Amino acid sequence: MAFQQTILITGGAGFIGSHLVRLMVNQYPAYHIVNLDKLTYAGNLENLKDVEGSPNYTFIKGDITKEAQMQQLFADYDFDGVIHLAAESHVDRSISNPMSFIETNIVGTVVLLNAARFRWKDAAGKRFYHISTDEVYGSLGETGYFTEETPYDPRSPYSASKASSDHLVRAYYHTYGLPVVLSNCSNNYGPYQFPEKLLPLMINNIRNNKPLPVYGDGQYTRDWLWVEDHASAIDLIYHRGEVGETYNIGGNNEWKNIGLVHQLCDIVDELLGRQPGASRSLITFVKDRPGHDRRYAIDASKIKRELGWEPTIQAAEGLRRTAEWYLENTEWLERVTSGAYQQYYELQYGEE
Ligand code: NAD
Ligand code: DAU
Repeated sequence: MAFQQTILITGGAGFIGSHLVRLMVNQYPAYHIVNLDKLTYAGNLENLKDVEGSPNYTFIKGDITKEAQMQQLFADYDFDGVIHLAAESHVDRSISNPMSFIETNIVGTVVLLNAARFRWKDAAGKRFYHISTDEVYGSLGETGYFTEETPYDPRSPYSASKASSDHLVRAYYHTYGLPVVLSNCSNNYGPYQFPEKLLPLMINNIRNNKPLPVYGDGQYTRDWLWVEDHASAIDLIYHRGEVGETYNIGGNNEWKNIGLVHQLCDIVDELLGRQPGASRSLITFVKDRPGHDRRYAIDASKIKRELGWEPTIQAAEGLRRTAEWYLENTEWLERVTSGAYQQYYELQYGEE
């Protein structure tokens, strides 16, 4: 079958990537979606079971840091576009092991940029879309929002590696004319998130009656976005975003960590038929994350104004759907938290 477009999605077996792959494969049967993923601890083909047999979907196990491999991939498929999500994504891991973040997030991105640049001699109509984070902007006080003009001020090895990759993507636009587009998004939540991140970790611990480790004073603020809303924003930006532009994506849904954990405890207690308030007693304040950014908040008015995107799922519904999904998919949780996860958990939380 001759496809209208062939699109490379990197990191499509991860949390956000799997939602995006599902959306693209189902919504665009005339596109060939190629998912390239290294399947690190965070990548899981189980997240994509429902699309694996689709005629417009191909999975390739590969590593974006491998130059020859990526150049061969671009020669094999003649991509029309790239949506680049592959990354090391967990801040705490970047603090204990920064090097893998430098390798994948910086070097891997440059390897892909080069593969696209060399392959796309005539880049007209092509598109290299880099998925990034609001963490590149640093930390806010009690008020204010990150806009697309906020100066970069990354403070963790993770955010510094993402900031570096953003700069390199823009450099390839200005220097080589590569048709790039970027977006910087706030915290995503929903099904298939690896339980090292706040929400699935807390849900998993609540169901197992384990301590709920809240860093520092718990007064840190994040803006939370339903992951499928992020995927729909990516779809829109890929198709309609201006080349060379950046779009901030956010949920307009700020929570202090402790408030969010309280809310989750109450939802999960209700779903499990426990006494109201039972799980709140599991909350344990633990040592803080070094360099912990106090507050993130996104001004997403540009994507609303220019592309008409807005989040569709509000917190009350999204948190309940999230809790329900993990409680209904305990086998998934058991599988991803066996083996190496135990070792990670012991290192991260063991001393407390
Ligand atoms: P994730 O950790 O769940 O998934 C990352 C995926 O990348 C995994 O499938 C992994 O196997 C793959 N990968 C890692 N190294 C690779 C390599 N060298 N080659 C090929 N594949 C590799 O991450 P996520 O939360 O889904 O985040 C996806 C992207 O979105 C990242 O770029 C992240 O910085 C960005 N982002 C995430 C959030 C969030 O809240 N999770 C918010 C904003 C932006
Ligand atoms: O803002 C976007 C970013 O959101 C993405 O770029 C990252 O890839 C993604 O991991 C996420 O980063 P955070 O550091 O904000 O997410 P995390 O779930 O690790 O932590 C959310 C907040 O909860 C943060 O303030 C730290 C706190 N926390 C986290 C964990 C894992 C706790 O208090 N206890 C915990 O055990």
